[in-house]
Amino acid sequence: MIRVTRSAVIDAPIERVWAILRDFNSHNAWHPVVAESHIENGEASDQVGCVRNFTLKDGNHIREQLLALSDQDYVSTYCILDATLPMRRYVATVRLKRVTDGDRTFWHWESTFDVPRGREKEFADLVGKGVYEGGFEGLRAFLRRPRAAGPRPASNAGSMQTSGVVATSFGGPDVLQTRTLDARAPGPGEVRLRHTAIGVNYIDVYVRKGLYRMIEPPAPIGMEAAGVVQDVGDGVAHLLPGDRVAYAAPPPGAYVGVRTMAADQLVVLPDHVDDETAAATMLKGMTAEYLLHRTRPIRAGDTVLVHAAAGGVGLLLCQWAKALGARVIGTVSSEEKARLARSRGCDAPIVTKDYRFAQQVRQVSGGRGVDVIYDGLGRAAAAENLEALAFTGHWISYGQASGPLDPVPAETLSAKSITMTRPVLFHYTAERATLNQIAGRMFEALRQGTITVDLRHRYPLGAAAEAHRALEARQTTGPIVLLP
Ligand SMILES: NC(=O)c1ccc[n+]([C@@H]2O[C@H](COP(=O)([O-])OP(=O)(O)OC[C@H]3O[C@@H](n4cnc5c(N)ncnc54)[C@H](OP(=O)(O)O)[C@@H]3O)[C@@H](O)[C@H]2O)c1
Repeated sequence: MIRVTRSAVIDAPIERVWAILRDFNSHNAWHPVVAESHIENGEASDQVGCVRNFTLKDGNHIREQLLALSDQDYVSTYCILDATLPMRRYVATVRLKRVTDGDRTFWHWESTFDVPRGREKEFADLVGKGVYEGGFEGLRAFLRRPRAAGPRPASNAGSMQTSGVVATSFGGPDVLQTRTLDARAPGPGEVRLRHTAIGVNYIDVYVRKGLYRMIEPPAPIGMEAAGVVQDVGDGVAHLLPGDRVAYAAPPPGAYVGVRTMAADQLVVLPDHVDDETAAATMLKGMTAEYLLHRTRPIRAGDTVLVHAAAGGVGLLLCQWAKALGARVIGTVSSEEKARLARSRGCDAPIVTKDYRFAQQVRQVSGGRGVDVIYDGLGRAAAAENLEALAFTGHWISYGQASGPLDPVPAETLSAKSITMTRPVLFHYTAERATLNQIAGRMFEALRQGTITVDLRHRYPLGAAAEAHRALEARQTTGPIVLLP
């Protein structure tokens, strides 16, 4: 049996350190060797018995179970359930003590486990240096992350005034007007954050028009932003004031300077993702993640058709699908958009403004058609989509920029054994565990350069109507952000 013991002093009060470590899934944010982690079955990450399922940056895979957690004694114990590493009977304990000056924390981390004979030293070093000492440094770096400067309101301070853009009624871009609003103190399970960048998405147009009845005007719209946590309500374990965070989630209300909202849809941003990139990719990048990996997992050799290939979601789909080994065909409305899409992985951009593409798709696919269509266009492209699909092809109708889809009769699908889905990001991210998985893989894709963000459209928050006009006039490429 090997015993590994390490300890360190962390330059932060015990409450701060424990608020992070008591969250069994927090290592995703601070441990340098963890690539992606989630808690299984949507359980809370401080629930004794919960299982964290994670991948290390070297590709190894581990499942660990939380065995005990004491908020009174600042102790947690966990064990490995299974791993691709040959470690058996691994049980570890994390114990914190207050250093007497009160501003620092003593962290003791120890474990016992078995490994195959002859590999004891290798694994004692791996755990002691790589996991424990690396973890101490990782947490120190995490605590040193840039935080918001200046005074922050104390927890549960009263309302704060802020400026926001509200839809004054359902209608065109002109209904978007700036108003002074209140951001109330966060209640249980909520946080109040100061936005630093806000994403504009096509869904904001549907909400503004009343096509999706998600607000009752007058009310602010928007479902994606990055910012800094100002204060947190009771029961919020994974966030503290000063944390850089981002979200893509209903209800609408993101076009504001300061917002109070449910904490469970917020993820902490890794250092390598700046605020504008986060506001530009949380909704569109997580959409690309689930469309390519979950709705119909892409296989090397697939041929796919991405509509609006130079758009916000479109450019991310092109890059990521190409990296997964697909051949990518795209539709765009101008030669300039075609050049951009081509530079981001689209093998064969088709320039069309009037939704006529099936013939060219069949030509460039050798008469076969495509395996998957990513369709954010809706009504105007429906008939051509059916023509452009291969036998057993899959039509992913995930948006409706040209208008809502008319009903699709089953017999139209049976003509080629076509399958069809109408997915929505927010259903995939409703469980916090899956949200962390999807966001984690998206951040990793950004880090590795699998996807890059071409942010060319920045508007002051007060010019949101102008941003909507450009988006609806098909004048934009890539994402749009509003700056409060
Ligand atoms: N279901 C989900 O989970 C989910 C999540 C995110 C986004 N979406 C959908 O994904 C699509 C793309 O969203 P986005 O925010 O990235 O927008 P976007 O693609 O940047 O902008 C929309 C693009 O659609 C094309 N388009 C074709 N006909 C249009 C028309 N009649 N009016 C306006 N645009 C038209 C234009 O590209 P061309 O000029 O090149 O044709 C335009 O640039 C939208 O349909 C959105 O609703 C769905």
